[in-house]
Amino acid sequence: MENFTYHNPTKLIFGKDQLVQLKEEVPRYGNNVLLVYGGGSIKRNGLYDQTVSYLKEIGATVHELSGVEPNPRIATVRKGVDICKTEGIDFILAVGGGSVIDCTKAIAAGAKYEGDAWDLVTKKHIPTEAVPFGTVLTLAATGSEMNSGSVITNWETNEKYGWGSPLVFPRFSILDPQNTFTVPQDQTVYGVVDMMSHLFEQYFHNVKNTPLQDRMIEGTLRTVMEAAPKLVKDLKNYDLRETILYSGTVALNGTLQVGYRGDWASHNIEHAVSAVYDIPHAGGLAILFPNWMKHTLQTNVGRYKQLAVRVFDVNPTGKTDEETALEGIQKLRVFWSSIGAPEQLAHYDIDDSKVDAMADKAMANGPFGNFQKLQKEDVVAILKASL
Ligand code: NZQ
Ligand code: ZN
Repeated sequence: MENFTYHNPTKLIFGKDQLVQLKEEVPRYGNNVLLVYGGGSIKRNGLYDQTVSYLKEIGATVHELSGVEPNPRIATVRKGVDICKTEGIDFILAVGGGSVIDCTKAIAAGAKYEGDAWDLVTKKHIPTEAVPFGTVLTLAATGSEMNSGSVITNWETNEKYGWGSPLVFPRFSILDPQNTFTVPQDQTVYGVVDMMSHLFEQYFHNVKNTPLQDRMIEGTLRTVMEAAPKLVKDLKNYDLRETILYSGTVALNGTLQVGYRGDWASHNIEHAVSAVYDIPHAGGLAILFPNWMKHTLQTNVGRYKQLAVRVFDVNPTGKTDEETALEGIQKLRVFWSSIGAPEQLAHYDIDDSKVDAMADKAMANGPFGNFQKLQKEDVVAILKASL
């Protein structure tokens, strides 16, 4: 392991009927509140009414920013920053999925910065202050509810980048599995693919002696793979929603990624694809990740073999390490397809016409990936294999 310091300040409030804790938590930070949410799912399932009624009960003044898009846009961040500045907002409450939370993180830091919020995303400005915010999570996927990362898209320039700061950990996050009951089947599948992808991104590193981290990641993967096929057939099952919801948080709240850095190349390529085509993040990952795996197999066949045996129950007897490893990757492909995830970019009508443009976007900050450094020709090969 490498030396590490781990600190996660987000208070996690998990379980049935926990929304009421807003009444305890919000007044700690302020009462002039900006409520941020997406395209209306929280209005349809009653969460909006419940949230506003609790905020009113504690005497908060509530301003609103609605319509945060999946793959949240910088234009929406700017709207939120304007509201914060003109209304003197002292607390932001994000109610939604990863997009709403990521947008809120950029608003929180942008509100304390005189320049344009896009400077945060491009890392031209390193935030020194942020408006405090909390979240009510409605979709199990990104881990944004308990991490300090955010991914924002600039639709004018076709750029989508991740950024982060210790200042944008949520102060608290409320996770009630019941609030995920209305997530439709396709989004449920995307969430599963996303959290599994986060686990793979962290599993593939070349640091020695991480047996506990390995077992924790393998255990989380097995847990998700056991629950997900049942959940897609039984979307309102509390126990299954609970398992998947907590798994998504654990997969990317930093506990697993200590003592090494994960790879994160597949996420970088996916962000380039969805910057050009605006496809769902995890739809892209389901297609790209197995191809990234095949492409990087030779970097550390032993690691792939370990995954195949321990997570995908591949029997290595009589097989070369490479055969065992490839069988594991194939089993992942089959598993994702079995729950309804796409296999090829053609699913989103993406052909080879913009492969070069996507590869250039992925290369914006030079060669990337910590398990194996990818050059442009690697990215092009992975994209072509994904068509
Ligand atoms: O907008 P509304 O109407 O709320 O509908 C959303 C949206 O259409 C819907 N939804 C959410 N909760 C629901 C619901 N529908 C019914 N019932 C509910 N309870 O689901 C759709 C997708 O929501 P979104 O927030 O976009 O999904 P997700 O949580 O997967 O977030 C994806 C974004 O997060 C970024 C991705 O790149 C993408 O932009 N990521 C953020 C990360 C982070 N901050 O750490 C890491 C990830 O790897 C990822 O890159
Ligand atoms: Zn992701």
